[in-house]
Amino acid sequence: MPLVTTVEMFNKAYEGGYAIGAFNVNNMEIIQGITEAAKEENSPLILQVSSGARKYANHTYLVKLVEAALIETDLPICLHLDHGDTFELCKSCIDGGFTSVMIDGSHHNYDDNVALTRRVVDYAHDHGVTVEGELGRLEGVEDDVKVAMGEGSYTDPDQVLDFVTRTGVDSLAIAIGTSHGAYKFKPGTKPQLRFDILEEVQKRLPGFPIVLHGASSVIPEFVEMINANGGKMPDAIGVPEDMLRKAATMAVCKINIDSDLRLAMTGTIRKYFNENPSHFDPRQYLKPARDAIREMVRHKIVHVLGSNNKA
Ligand code: G3H
Ligand code: 13P
Ligand code: ZN
Repeated sequence: MPLVTTVEMFNKAYEGGYAIGAFNVNNMEIIQGITEAAKEENSPLILQVSSGARKYANHTYLVKLVEAALIETDLPICLHLDHGDTFELCKSCIDGGFTSVMIDGSHHNYDDNVALTRRVVDYAHDHGVTVEGELGRLEGVEDDVKVAMGEGSYTDPDQVLDFVTRTGVDSLAIAIGTSHGAYKFKPGTKPQLRFDILEEVQKRLPGFPIVLHGASSVIPEFVEMINANGGKMPDAIGVPEDMLRKAATMAVCKINIDSDLRLAMTGTIRKYFNENPSHFDPRQYLKPARDAIREMVRHKIVHVLGSNNKA
């Protein structure tokens, strides 16, 4: 089956009270681990590429690897640009075969965010591509953009209807207290999300798909594996799984996960080298890393997203 947009997968996810996992991809092993899991669990999937991933791996390599995964799995897979920050970047991905793009104008003032997002939507819709916009600012690091602790801002529910109407976006990322990276909540504090904001957004946009960024759980097993094998990560706290599950039963149709993939891969490779210091064949350490990604993604699909058997 060809790549799909987000339209049908979000309609079904909203109705069914589950969410689609949007996993960041940077190389072949990551793509294989994620898509093998989705195939085993018969789950639809969003594979997303950041501008950093595109710089690292090259647009064409990533598109061709995702096309290979389509052939291998025959699943509904959407290829999505994560955090596009300019019209030109979005256009290049649309022209280059992506079926969905995010235009993240959240660093602009409201009117500039609306204007930039509208311009991307017009071009994308003319080409049969869906668009995710963002209102509110998440903390953390994405590519070159760093939003310091305390400098994020929650989404204002009073703006969402106007934003969606004026831009024509197909989905909306909102800020309710998640953040990018491995350090989401202060050590010693209880992780909290503003479900009241999500509820208000849902009331103002009935049936409209909402996106949650910064949604890794920062799986302790992998942080411990990193630190037990020579790593030095400070206390890292992610979004508890029960909160993600709750969001998925509400209006959240897309849950973004990158950091958990990084932790699974790095923890497994560090452990491998600690146990096998003389090995140097990359296949020997990339294979267990790919296996760890597959099992972690299967867990997410079945126990967090609820997207198993929904392909
Ligand atoms: O939200 C950001 C994603 O984790 C992508 O990270 O820009 O370093 O590829 P990256
Ligand atoms: P995490 O850093 O929590 O994995 O978030 C990833 C993300 O939001 C990608 O857009
Ligand atoms: Zn993000």
